[in-house]
Amino acid sequence: MSTPYSKDEIAALQEKAKRHLWLHFTRMSSYDNAEMQVIVRGEGQYVYDQHGKRYLDGLAGLFVSQIGHGRTEVAEAGARQAAELAYFPLWSYAHPQAIELADRLAAMAPGDLNRVFFTSSGSEAVESAWKLAKQYFKSIGQPGRYKVLSRSIAYHGTSLGALAITGLPGIKEPFEPLPPGGVRVPNTNFYRAPAFVADDETAFGVWAADEIERVIQHEGPDSVAAVYLEPVQNSGGCFPPPPGYFQRVREICDRYGVLLVSDEVICAFGRLGYYFGCDRYGYEPDIITFAKGITSGYAPLGGMLVADKLMEPFSEGHASFLHGVTFAGHPVSCAVAMANLDVFEKEDLLGNVRANEDAFRTTLEKLGDLPIVGDVRGAGYFYGIELVKDKATKESFDDDESERLLRGFLSHALFDAGLICRADDRGDPVIQLSPPLTCTQEHFDEMEQILRGVLTEASTKI
Ligand SMILES: Cc1ncc(COP(=O)(O)O)c(C=O)c1O
Repeated sequence: MSTPYSKDEIAALQEKAKRHLWLHFTRMSSYDNAEMQVIVRGEGQYVYDQHGKRYLDGLAGLFVSQIGHGRTEVAEAGARQAAELAYFPLWSYAHPQAIELADRLAAMAPGDLNRVFFTSSGSEAVESAWKLAKQYFKSIGQPGRYKVLSRSIAYHGTSLGALAITGLPGIKEPFEPLPPGGVRVPNTNFYRAPAFVADDETAFGVWAADEIERVIQHEGPDSVAAVYLEPVQNSGGCFPPPPGYFQRVREICDRYGVLLVSDEVICAFGRLGYYFGCDRYGYEPDIITFAKGITSGYAPLGGMLVADKLMEPFSEGHASFLHGVTFAGHPVSCAVAMANLDVFEKEDLLGNVRANEDAFRTTLEKLGDLPIVGDVRGAGYFYGIELVKDKATKESFDDDESERLLRGFLSHALFDAGLICRADDRGDPVIQLSPPLTCTQEHFDEMEQILRGVLTEASTKI
Protein backbone atom coordinates (compact mmCIF):
# COMPACT_ATOMS: atom_id res chain seq x y z
CA MET A 1 0.00 0.00 0.00
CA SER A 2 1.10 3.49 -0.71
CA THR A 3 1.41 5.91 2.16
CA PRO A 4 -1.38 8.41 1.53
CA TYR A 5 -0.55 12.08 1.70
CA SER A 6 -1.93 13.88 4.74
CA LYS A 7 -5.05 16.04 4.40
CA ASP A 8 -2.93 19.18 4.67
CA GLU A 9 -0.46 17.98 2.03
CA ILE A 10 -3.32 17.16 -0.31
CA ALA A 11 -4.95 20.54 0.20
CA ALA A 12 -1.66 22.36 -0.38
CA LEU A 13 -0.96 20.43 -3.58
CA GLN A 14 -4.46 21.07 -4.89
CA GLU A 15 -4.21 24.76 -4.23
CA LYS A 16 -0.84 25.10 -5.96
CA ALA A 17 -1.93 22.93 -8.86
CA LYS A 18 -5.11 24.89 -9.44
CA ARG A 19 -3.29 28.18 -9.26
CA HIS A 20 -0.15 27.41 -11.26
CA LEU A 21 -0.18 24.17 -13.18
CA TRP A 22 -1.48 23.98 -16.74
CA LEU A 23 -2.43 20.47 -17.82
CA HIS A 24 -2.09 19.44 -21.45
CA PHE A 25 -5.18 19.00 -23.63
CA THR A 26 -7.26 19.56 -20.49
CA ARG A 27 -10.28 21.67 -19.74
CA MET A 28 -8.91 23.36 -16.65
CA SER A 29 -12.39 24.54 -15.69
CA SER A 30 -13.33 20.95 -14.95
CA TYR A 31 -11.29 21.33 -11.75
CA ASP A 32 -13.05 24.48 -10.57
CA ASN A 33 -15.19 22.40 -8.25
CA ALA A 34 -13.43 19.07 -8.39
CA GLU A 35 -10.18 17.65 -7.13
CA MET A 36 -7.35 17.37 -9.65
CA GLN A 37 -6.24 13.76 -9.98
CA VAL A 38 -2.73 13.53 -8.61
CA ILE A 39 -0.68 10.37 -9.12
CA VAL A 40 2.14 10.09 -6.63
CA ARG A 41 3.73 6.69 -6.97
CA GLY A 42 3.98 3.64 -9.23
CA GLU A 43 4.79 0.01 -8.72
CA GLY A 44 4.67 -2.66 -11.40
CA GLN A 45 1.41 -2.39 -13.34
CA TYR A 46 -0.19 -0.07 -10.78
CA VAL A 47 -0.04 3.59 -9.79
CA TYR A 48 -1.29 5.25 -6.60
CA ASP A 49 -2.95 8.59 -6.06
CA GLN A 50 -2.48 11.06 -3.23
CA HIS A 51 -5.09 9.26 -1.13
CA GLY A 52 -3.24 5.97 -1.45
CA LYS A 53 -5.84 4.55 -3.86
CA ARG A 54 -4.50 2.05 -6.37
CA TYR A 55 -5.17 2.07 -10.14
CA LEU A 56 -4.34 -0.45 -12.82
CA ASP A 57 -2.31 1.51 -15.37
CA GLY A 58 -4.14 0.28 -18.44
CA LEU A 59 -2.55 2.94 -20.64
CA ALA A 60 1.08 2.60 -19.48
CA GLY A 61 0.88 6.27 -18.53
CA LEU A 62 0.48 7.47 -22.09
CA PHE A 63 1.63 4.41 -24.09
CA VAL A 64 4.99 4.74 -22.35
CA SER A 65 5.62 2.50 -19.31
CA GLN A 66 6.47 -0.74 -21.08
CA ILE A 67 8.40 -2.32 -18.20
CA GLY A 68 6.03 -0.96 -15.55
CA HIS A 69 6.66 1.37 -12.66
CA GLY A 70 9.15 1.45 -9.81
CA ARG A 71 12.12 -0.31 -11.45
CA THR A 72 14.97 0.76 -9.25
CA GLU A 73 17.66 -0.68 -11.56
CA VAL A 74 16.56 1.65 -14.35
CA ALA A 75 16.27 4.63 -12.01
CA GLU A 76 19.74 3.86 -10.65
CA ALA A 77 21.22 3.67 -14.15
CA GLY A 78 19.95 7.22 -14.69
CA ALA A 79 21.32 8.41 -11.34
CA ARG A 80 24.74 6.88 -12.05
CA GLN A 81 24.88 8.59 -15.41
CA ALA A 82 23.85 11.96 -13.95
CA ALA A 83 26.73 11.69 -11.51
CA GLU A 84 29.21 10.69 -14.25
CA LEU A 85 28.16 13.11 -16.99
CA ALA A 86 24.74 14.68 -16.58
CA TYR A 87 24.75 16.55 -19.84
CA PHE A 88 26.62 17.12 -22.99
CA PRO A 89 25.11 17.97 -26.37
CA LEU A 90 25.16 15.88 -29.51
CA TRP A 91 26.05 19.03 -31.43
CA SER A 92 29.57 18.29 -32.66
CA TYR A 93 30.31 16.00 -29.69
CA ALA A 94 29.35 12.45 -28.89
CA HIS A 95 29.07 10.70 -25.54
CA PRO A 96 29.37 6.98 -24.84
CA GLN A 97 25.70 6.48 -23.94
CA ALA A 98 24.42 7.87 -27.24
CA ILE A 99 27.03 5.84 -29.13
CA GLU A 100 26.16 2.58 -27.36
CA LEU A 101 22.44 3.13 -27.71
CA ALA A 102 22.70 4.04 -31.41
CA ASP A 103 24.73 0.89 -31.99
CA ARG A 104 22.19 -1.24 -30.12
CA LEU A 105 19.21 0.27 -31.95
CA ALA A 106 20.87 -0.14 -35.35
CA ALA A 107 21.42 -3.83 -34.57
CA MET A 108 17.77 -4.24 -33.59
CA ALA A 109 16.29 -2.31 -36.52
CA PRO A 110 15.32 -3.98 -39.80
CA GLY A 111 17.29 -3.81 -43.06
CA ASP A 112 19.64 -0.90 -43.58
CA LEU A 113 18.22 1.39 -40.92
CA ASN A 114 21.58 1.98 -39.37
CA ARG A 115 21.76 5.63 -38.43
CA VAL A 116 20.16 7.07 -35.30
CA PHE A 117 19.28 10.74 -34.92
CA PHE A 118 18.10 11.37 -31.36
CA THR A 119 15.48 13.87 -30.25
CA SER A 120 13.80 14.41 -26.92
CA SER A 121 10.21 13.60 -27.90
CA GLY A 122 7.95 11.98 -30.45
CA SER A 123 6.82 15.23 -32.06
CA GLU A 124 10.45 16.21 -32.54
CA ALA A 125 11.16 12.82 -34.09
CA VAL A 126 8.26 13.18 -36.53
CA GLU A 127 9.24 16.71 -37.44
CA SER A 128 12.92 15.77 -37.75
CA ALA A 129 11.97 13.08 -40.26
CA TRP A 130 10.12 15.64 -42.34
CA LYS A 131 13.06 18.04 -42.22
CA LEU A 132 15.43 15.24 -43.13
CA ALA A 133 13.24 14.24 -46.08
CA LYS A 134 13.13 17.83 -47.31
CA GLN A 135 16.86 18.45 -47.00
CA TYR A 136 17.65 15.02 -48.43
CA PHE A 137 15.57 15.63 -51.55
CA LYS A 138 17.07 19.08 -52.00
CA SER A 139 20.53 17.53 -51.71
CA ILE A 140 19.87 14.94 -54.39
CA GLY A 141 18.41 17.40 -56.88
CA GLN A 142 14.68 16.89 -56.22
CA PRO A 143 13.88 20.19 -54.46
CA GLY A 144 10.18 20.07 -55.28
CA ARG A 145 9.48 17.23 -52.85
CA TYR A 146 8.09 18.65 -49.63
CA LYS A 147 4.61 17.18 -49.14
CA VAL A 148 3.84 14.51 -46.60
CA LEU A 149 0.90 12.13 -46.70
CA SER A 150 -0.65 10.82 -43.52
CA ARG A 151 -3.88 9.14 -42.59
CA SER A 152 -7.16 10.60 -41.57
CA ILE A 153 -7.56 10.91 -37.76
CA ALA A 154 -3.91 9.85 -37.20
CA TYR A 155 -1.99 11.63 -34.45
CA HIS A 156 1.64 12.42 -35.17
CA GLY A 157 2.35 15.09 -32.57
CA THR A 158 1.67 18.70 -31.73
CA SER A 159 4.60 20.93 -32.68
CA LEU A 160 3.60 22.90 -35.76
CA GLY A 161 5.40 20.66 -38.26
CA ALA A 162 4.17 17.48 -36.62
CA LEU A 163 0.70 19.00 -36.36
CA ALA A 164 0.67 19.57 -40.10
CA ILE A 165 1.14 15.80 -40.44
CA THR A 166 -1.44 14.98 -37.76
CA GLY A 167 -4.83 14.15 -39.29
CA LEU A 168 -7.14 15.42 -36.54
CA PRO A 169 -8.90 18.58 -37.77
CA GLY A 170 -10.11 19.52 -34.28
CA ILE A 171 -6.67 20.03 -32.79
CA LYS A 172 -5.24 21.74 -35.89
CA GLU A 173 -7.84 24.39 -36.53
CA PRO A 174 -6.74 26.92 -33.82
CA PHE A 175 -3.20 26.88 -35.24
CA GLU A 176 -3.96 27.33 -38.93
CA PRO A 177 -2.24 28.19 -41.14
CA LEU A 178 0.15 25.31 -40.56
CA PRO A 179 3.31 24.64 -42.59
CA PRO A 180 2.15 23.68 -46.08
CA GLY A 181 2.38 20.14 -47.37
CA GLY A 182 0.28 17.93 -45.10
CA VAL A 183 -2.10 15.81 -47.18
CA ARG A 184 -4.58 13.18 -45.93
CA VAL A 185 -5.20 9.64 -47.14
CA PRO A 186 -7.74 7.13 -45.74
CA ASN A 187 -6.98 5.16 -42.61
CA THR A 188 -7.48 1.44 -42.15
CA ASN A 189 -10.56 1.38 -39.93
CA PHE A 190 -12.10 -1.81 -41.34
CA TYR A 191 -15.11 -1.48 -39.01
CA ARG A 192 -16.01 1.67 -40.94
CA ALA A 193 -14.82 0.49 -44.37
CA PRO A 194 -16.64 1.80 -47.47
CA ALA A 195 -19.50 -0.51 -48.45
CA PHE A 196 -17.83 -1.88 -51.59
CA VAL A 197 -14.98 -3.41 -49.58
CA ALA A 198 -16.74 -3.86 -46.22
CA ASP A 199 -16.84 -7.67 -46.48
CA ASP A 200 -13.27 -8.27 -47.60
CA GLU A 201 -10.42 -7.00 -45.46
CA THR A 202 -7.79 -7.75 -48.09
CA ALA A 203 -9.70 -5.82 -50.74
CA PHE A 204 -10.15 -3.01 -48.22
CA GLY A 205 -6.37 -2.93 -47.71
CA VAL A 206 -5.76 -2.82 -51.46
CA TRP A 207 -8.18 0.07 -51.76
CA ALA A 208 -6.64 1.99 -48.82
CA ALA A 209 -3.11 1.49 -50.20
CA ASP A 210 -4.17 2.44 -53.71
CA GLU A 211 -5.67 5.63 -52.35
CA ILE A 212 -2.12 6.56 -51.37
CA GLU A 213 -1.05 6.09 -54.96
CA ARG A 214 -4.02 8.06 -56.21
CA VAL A 215 -3.19 10.96 -53.89
CA ILE A 216 0.50 10.89 -54.87
CA GLN A 217 -0.55 11.14 -58.51
CA HIS A 218 -3.06 13.86 -57.75
CA GLU A 219 -0.55 15.95 -55.79
CA GLY A 220 2.16 15.38 -58.37
CA PRO A 221 4.74 12.68 -57.56
CA ASP A 222 7.57 15.20 -57.82
CA SER A 223 6.12 17.16 -54.92
CA VAL A 224 5.69 14.29 -52.45
CA ALA A 225 8.50 13.61 -49.96
CA ALA A 226 7.11 11.03 -47.57
CA VAL A 227 4.20 8.95 -46.34
CA TYR A 228 3.80 8.69 -42.55
CA LEU A 229 2.05 5.61 -41.22
CA GLU A 230 1.83 4.00 -37.80
CA PRO A 231 2.01 0.19 -37.85
CA VAL A 232 -1.27 0.22 -35.89
CA GLN A 233 -2.94 3.62 -35.97
CA ASN A 234 -3.63 4.83 -32.47
CA SER A 235 -6.02 7.69 -32.89
CA GLY A 236 -9.49 6.55 -33.82
CA GLY A 237 -8.96 3.44 -31.72
CA CYS A 238 -6.23 1.05 -32.87
CA PHE A 239 -6.60 0.32 -36.58
CA PRO A 240 -4.41 -2.65 -37.53
CA PRO A 241 -3.23 -2.85 -41.14
CA PRO A 242 -5.22 -5.13 -43.43
CA PRO A 243 -3.26 -8.10 -44.82
CA GLY A 244 -0.83 -6.99 -47.52
CA TYR A 245 -1.43 -3.28 -46.91
CA PHE A 246 2.11 -2.33 -46.00
CA GLN A 247 3.66 -4.43 -48.76
CA ARG A 248 1.52 -2.59 -51.29
CA VAL A 249 2.31 0.80 -49.75
CA ARG A 250 6.02 -0.04 -49.89
CA GLU A 251 5.71 -0.83 -53.60
CA ILE A 252 3.86 2.41 -54.23
CA CYS A 253 6.46 4.45 -52.34
CA ASP A 254 9.25 2.78 -54.32
CA ARG A 255 7.43 3.38 -57.60
CA TYR A 256 7.25 7.14 -56.95
CA GLY A 257 10.49 7.60 -55.02
CA VAL A 258 8.57 8.58 -51.88
CA LEU A 259 9.98 7.84 -48.41
CA LEU A 260 8.03 5.56 -46.10
CA VAL A 261 8.14 6.75 -42.49
CA SER A 262 6.95 4.24 -39.92
CA ASP A 263 5.84 6.40 -37.00
CA GLU A 264 6.44 4.01 -34.13
CA VAL A 265 6.27 6.46 -31.27
CA ILE A 266 3.72 4.09 -29.75
CA CYS A 267 4.20 0.83 -31.65
CA ALA A 268 7.94 0.28 -31.12
CA PHE A 269 9.55 -1.37 -28.11
CA GLY A 270 7.25 -4.26 -27.54
CA ARG A 271 3.80 -2.71 -27.81
CA LEU A 272 3.03 -5.14 -30.65
CA GLY A 273 5.30 -7.94 -29.40
CA TYR A 274 8.29 -6.86 -31.50
CA TYR A 275 10.95 -4.21 -31.06
CA PHE A 276 9.50 -2.47 -34.09
CA GLY A 277 5.97 -2.63 -35.41
CA CYS A 278 7.25 -2.88 -38.98
CA ASP A 279 8.85 -6.22 -38.03
CA ARG A 280 5.47 -7.57 -37.02
CA TYR A 281 3.95 -6.61 -40.36
CA GLY A 282 6.98 -7.47 -42.50
CA TYR A 283 7.84 -4.17 -44.18
CA GLU A 284 10.97 -2.06 -44.28
CA PRO A 285 10.46 1.67 -43.92
CA ASP A 286 13.05 4.30 -44.80
CA ILE A 287 12.72 5.96 -41.40
CA ILE A 288 11.35 4.76 -38.07
CA THR A 289 10.37 7.47 -35.60
CA PHE A 290 10.33 6.41 -31.95
CA ALA A 291 10.01 7.81 -28.41
CA LYS A 292 7.93 6.76 -25.38
CA GLY A 293 8.75 3.08 -24.77
CA ILE A 294 12.46 3.41 -25.51
CA THR A 295 12.93 4.54 -21.91
CA SER A 296 9.60 3.29 -20.50
CA GLY A 297 9.29 6.88 -19.28
CA TYR A 298 12.17 6.80 -16.78
CA ALA A 299 13.54 9.75 -18.76
CA PRO A 300 12.42 11.49 -21.96
CA LEU A 301 13.92 10.42 -25.28
CA GLY A 302 12.91 10.15 -28.92
CA GLY A 303 14.60 9.77 -32.24
CA MET A 304 14.60 8.42 -35.74
CA LEU A 305 16.29 5.41 -37.23
CA VAL A 306 17.32 6.22 -40.75
CA ALA A 307 18.25 4.15 -43.79
CA ASP A 308 21.86 4.39 -44.96
CA LYS A 309 20.87 5.97 -48.27
CA LEU A 310 19.35 8.99 -46.50
CA MET A 311 22.62 9.67 -44.75
CA GLU A 312 24.68 9.56 -47.95
CA PRO A 313 24.27 13.20 -49.04
CA PHE A 314 25.32 14.27 -45.54
CA SER A 315 28.39 12.13 -45.25
CA GLU A 316 30.73 14.02 -47.58
CA GLY A 317 32.37 17.40 -47.87
CA HIS A 318 30.69 20.39 -46.28
CA ALA A 319 27.27 18.80 -45.98
CA SER A 320 25.42 18.46 -42.70
CA PHE A 321 21.85 17.95 -41.61
CA LEU A 322 20.91 21.44 -40.41
CA HIS A 323 18.88 20.41 -37.41
CA GLY A 324 19.31 19.75 -33.71
CA VAL A 325 17.84 20.24 -30.24
CA THR A 326 19.59 20.76 -26.92
CA PHE A 327 18.35 17.77 -24.97
CA ALA A 328 18.30 15.22 -27.82
CA GLY A 329 20.07 12.03 -26.84
CA HIS A 330 20.52 13.26 -23.28
CA PRO A 331 23.14 11.08 -21.54
CA VAL A 332 20.78 10.23 -18.66
CA SER A 333 18.01 9.28 -21.08
CA CYS A 334 20.36 7.12 -23.15
CA ALA A 335 21.66 5.34 -20.04
CA VAL A 336 18.08 4.77 -18.94
CA ALA A 337 17.16 3.44 -22.39
CA MET A 338 20.01 0.92 -22.20
CA ALA A 339 18.84 -0.24 -18.76
CA ASN A 340 15.25 -0.39 -20.03
CA LEU A 341 16.28 -2.59 -22.96
CA ASP A 342 18.24 -4.79 -20.54
CA VAL A 343 14.96 -5.40 -18.69
CA PHE A 344 13.27 -6.28 -21.99
CA GLU A 345 15.95 -8.89 -22.63
CA LYS A 346 16.22 -10.30 -19.10
CA GLU A 347 12.48 -10.72 -18.73
CA ASP A 348 11.72 -11.55 -22.37
CA LEU A 349 9.00 -8.93 -22.52
CA LEU A 350 8.49 -9.43 -26.25
CA GLY A 351 7.90 -13.10 -25.49
CA ASN A 352 5.42 -12.15 -22.78
CA VAL A 353 3.40 -10.02 -25.18
CA ARG A 354 3.44 -12.69 -27.87
CA ALA A 355 2.49 -15.43 -25.43
CA ASN A 356 -0.37 -13.43 -23.90
CA GLU A 357 -1.76 -11.24 -26.65
CA ASP A 358 -4.39 -13.79 -27.68
CA ALA A 359 -5.55 -14.02 -24.08
CA PHE A 360 -5.72 -10.23 -23.90
CA ARG A 361 -7.81 -10.10 -27.04
CA THR A 362 -10.09 -12.95 -25.96
CA THR A 363 -10.65 -11.34 -22.57
CA LEU A 364 -11.53 -7.97 -24.10
CA GLU A 365 -13.74 -9.60 -26.70
CA LYS A 366 -15.97 -10.86 -23.91
CA LEU A 367 -17.18 -7.27 -23.66
CA GLY A 368 -18.74 -7.75 -27.09
CA ASP A 369 -21.92 -8.96 -25.37
CA LEU A 370 -22.58 -5.41 -24.12
CA PRO A 371 -24.95 -3.39 -26.31
CA ILE A 372 -22.62 -0.39 -26.34
CA VAL A 373 -19.53 -2.27 -27.58
CA GLY A 374 -19.35 -2.16 -31.38
CA ASP A 375 -15.84 -3.33 -32.10
CA VAL A 376 -12.76 -4.62 -30.27
CA ARG A 377 -9.61 -4.21 -32.34
CA GLY A 378 -5.87 -3.94 -32.09
CA ALA A 379 -2.79 -6.09 -31.78
CA GLY A 380 -0.22 -7.02 -29.15
CA TYR A 381 -0.92 -5.04 -25.99
CA PHE A 382 -2.64 -2.24 -27.86
CA TYR A 383 -6.45 -2.29 -28.14
CA GLY A 384 -9.33 0.00 -28.89
CA ILE A 385 -12.97 -0.65 -28.01
CA GLU A 386 -15.35 1.32 -30.19
CA LEU A 387 -18.57 2.37 -28.52
CA VAL A 388 -21.76 2.60 -30.56
CA LYS A 389 -25.33 3.69 -30.04
CA ASP A 390 -26.73 0.90 -32.13
CA LYS A 391 -24.76 -2.26 -32.63
CA ALA A 392 -26.79 -3.55 -35.58
CA THR A 393 -26.44 -0.38 -37.65
CA LYS A 394 -23.05 0.67 -36.17
CA GLU A 395 -24.62 4.07 -35.55
CA SER A 396 -22.24 6.23 -33.59
CA PHE A 397 -22.94 8.97 -31.06
CA ASP A 398 -23.41 12.57 -32.12
CA ASP A 399 -21.16 15.24 -30.61
CA ASP A 400 -23.46 16.02 -27.68
CA GLU A 401 -23.99 12.38 -26.81
CA SER A 402 -20.30 11.71 -27.10
CA GLU A 403 -19.56 14.66 -24.84
CA ARG A 404 -22.00 13.42 -22.21
CA LEU A 405 -20.89 9.83 -22.46
CA LEU A 406 -17.12 10.21 -22.59
CA ARG A 407 -16.40 13.39 -20.67
CA GLY A 408 -19.52 13.48 -18.57
CA PHE A 409 -19.41 9.88 -17.44
CA LEU A 410 -16.90 7.34 -18.73
CA SER A 411 -13.60 9.08 -18.03
CA HIS A 412 -14.47 9.70 -14.39
CA ALA A 413 -16.26 6.42 -13.85
CA LEU A 414 -13.35 4.34 -15.14
CA PHE A 415 -10.88 6.28 -13.03
CA ASP A 416 -13.12 5.99 -9.95
CA ALA A 417 -13.37 2.26 -10.58
CA GLY A 418 -9.57 2.00 -10.50
CA LEU A 419 -8.64 1.74 -14.18
CA ILE A 420 -6.50 4.21 -16.06
CA CYS A 421 -7.32 4.04 -19.74
CA ARG A 422 -8.42 6.53 -22.30
CA ALA A 423 -11.92 7.44 -23.41
CA ASP A 424 -11.25 9.24 -26.67
CA ASP A 425 -13.68 10.91 -29.05
CA ARG A 426 -11.31 12.43 -31.56
CA GLY A 427 -12.67 9.95 -34.08
CA ASP A 428 -15.63 7.75 -33.22
CA PRO A 429 -15.80 7.21 -29.43
CA VAL A 430 -13.35 4.58 -28.21
CA ILE A 431 -11.80 3.27 -25.04
CA GLN A 432 -8.11 2.65 -25.45
CA LEU A 433 -5.94 0.16 -23.63
CA SER A 434 -2.17 -0.10 -23.77
CA PRO A 435 -0.98 -1.68 -20.53
CA PRO A 436 2.58 -2.38 -19.39
CA LEU A 437 4.13 -5.32 -21.25
CA THR A 438 4.48 -7.22 -17.98
CA CYS A 439 0.71 -7.70 -17.69
CA THR A 440 -0.79 -11.18 -17.62
CA GLN A 441 -4.24 -12.74 -17.37
CA GLU A 442 -5.00 -11.36 -13.90
CA HIS A 443 -4.59 -7.82 -15.23
CA PHE A 444 -6.64 -8.55 -18.34
CA ASP A 445 -9.42 -9.88 -16.09
CA GLU A 446 -9.25 -6.79 -13.89
CA MET A 447 -9.54 -4.54 -16.95
CA GLU A 448 -12.43 -6.56 -18.32
CA GLN A 449 -14.32 -6.54 -15.04
CA ILE A 450 -13.95 -2.80 -14.48
CA LEU A 451 -14.88 -2.05 -18.08
CA ARG A 452 -17.88 -4.40 -17.88
CA GLY A 453 -19.24 -2.63 -14.81
CA VAL A 454 -18.72 0.88 -16.14
CA LEU A 455 -19.84 0.18 -19.71
CA THR A 456 -22.95 -1.60 -18.47
CA GLU A 457 -23.85 1.52 -16.51
CA ALA A 458 -22.98 3.67 -19.54
CA SER A 459 -25.43 1.66 -21.65
CA THR A 460 -28.25 2.73 -19.35
CA LYS A 461 -27.35 6.38 -19.82
CA ILE A 462 -27.77 6.53 -23.60
C1 LIG B 1 2.30 8.08 -33.38
C2 LIG B 1 2.73 9.28 -32.59
N1 LIG B 1 3.60 10.14 -33.15
C3 LIG B 1 4.04 11.22 -32.47
C4 LIG B 1 3.62 11.47 -31.19
C5 LIG B 1 4.12 12.68 -30.46
O1 LIG B 1 4.94 12.31 -29.41
P1 LIG B 1 5.27 13.33 -28.21
O2 LIG B 1 4.03 13.48 -27.42
O3 LIG B 1 6.38 12.64 -27.46
O4 LIG B 1 5.73 14.60 -28.83
C6 LIG B 1 2.73 10.60 -30.58
C7 LIG B 1 2.27 10.84 -29.19
O5 LIG B 1 1.43 10.16 -28.66
C8 LIG B 1 2.26 9.48 -31.29
O6 LIG B 1 1.40 8.61 -30.75
